[in-house]
Amino acid sequence: MRTPVGIIGAGPAGLFLSLLLQREGIASVVLEVHSRKYLEERIRAGVLEQGTVDLMHELGVGERLKKQGLEHGGIELRFGGRGHRIDFRELTGGKCVTIYAQHEVLKDLIAAKLAANEPIIFETENVSVHNLESAAPAIHFRANGISEKLECDFIAGCDGFHGICRPSIPASALQIYDRDYPFAWLGILAQAPPSSHELIYAYHQRGFALFSMRSPKISRLYLQCAPDEDIAAWPDERIWKELGNRLETTAGWKLTEGPVIQKGVTGMRSFVTEPMQFGKLFLAGDAAHIVPPTGAKGLNLAVADVRVLARALREFYTNGRRSVCGECGRCSGFPGG
Ligand code: APR
Repeated sequence: MRTPVGIIGAGPAGLFLSLLLQREGIASVVLEVHSRKYLEERIRAGVLEQGTVDLMHELGVGERLKKQGLEHGGIELRFGGRGHRIDFRELTGGKCVTIYAQHEVLKDLIAAKLAANEPIIFETENVSVHNLESAAPAIHFRANGISEKLECDFIAGCDGFHGICRPSIPASALQIYDRDYPFAWLGILAQAPPSSHELIYAYHQRGFALFSMRSPKISRLYLQCAPDEDIAAWPDERIWKELGNRLETTAGWKLTEGPVIQKGVTGMRSFVTEPMQFGKLFLAGDAAHIVPPTGAKGLNLAVADVRVLARALREFYTNGRRSVCGECGRCSGFPGG
């Protein structure tokens, strides 16, 4: 098998990259370890920045987003029992954030890919990358029990933090910046209509709390806790009581409770790799960097990464340029080949 760009991972990074390249007439093959069903049902992030929303419309995959996305023109910072609204639209000349779950984004991107007969190979196994510093890098993998080899001009490592691409780069070629924070977030997903029409970030002497949502029926809430917090010590009533304490206001704001459908403790970590490239392998998204979920940066940063990578690959295939700068699109080089 041969393709210009072999993409490992059908998360936001891999799928947006593939559609950006498709728009430039550059073919790609996406390899994904999980099934389509798994990706389209796994609840993860869900806050889209203006840039991500605009790109979905640019790529013609924004139909459902337009109908189902919840636009938020601001957020509330809550402390001292009072709320302080940050008006995004006013501060940014009209930009806002949109609540639209990541798995819904993936559904839209996968549907667009398959509608264009562009291949996504799901449920691949034993994926490995080879000859990264040569003119003919390759991806080896098994699909439907058959060993396959995909020859490429370039490989995009969009396989997330636990993928195989970053570890395939010699450690001596990478600089890692890593920090674990001395706290975690106890998060719940609840069948409760959102208690507020915008996100609330609360500072309280008992600790931080975040009120968010995934849809008009599903609320997402977080409590700051210890990194080794035992979730078994947190029956739902205790979680709701603590959330009520930390989000309370002097004006008597009411938190709407409901059945908790998912709960867990997430460690807070920042991890950044540089450079995000080794030979013909380019890392994007969580494969290169992870940041705490505080500002909903993960998904949006992954999209920003592949916008730059797609521009570089477009310049290579249209003008034979080997050096393209993410900013001006004119300078800095990428070696090999
Ligand atoms: N072979 C093929 N696919 C793989 C492999 C592998 N060896 N390892 C991982 N994958 C797939 C995962 O199953 C996943 O679908 O790569 C994809 C990586 O996707 P994400 O983890 O979502 O990473 P990314 O696309 O960089 O998006 C980053 O999305 O989930 C949010 O907030 C999260 O910040 C994160 C953002």
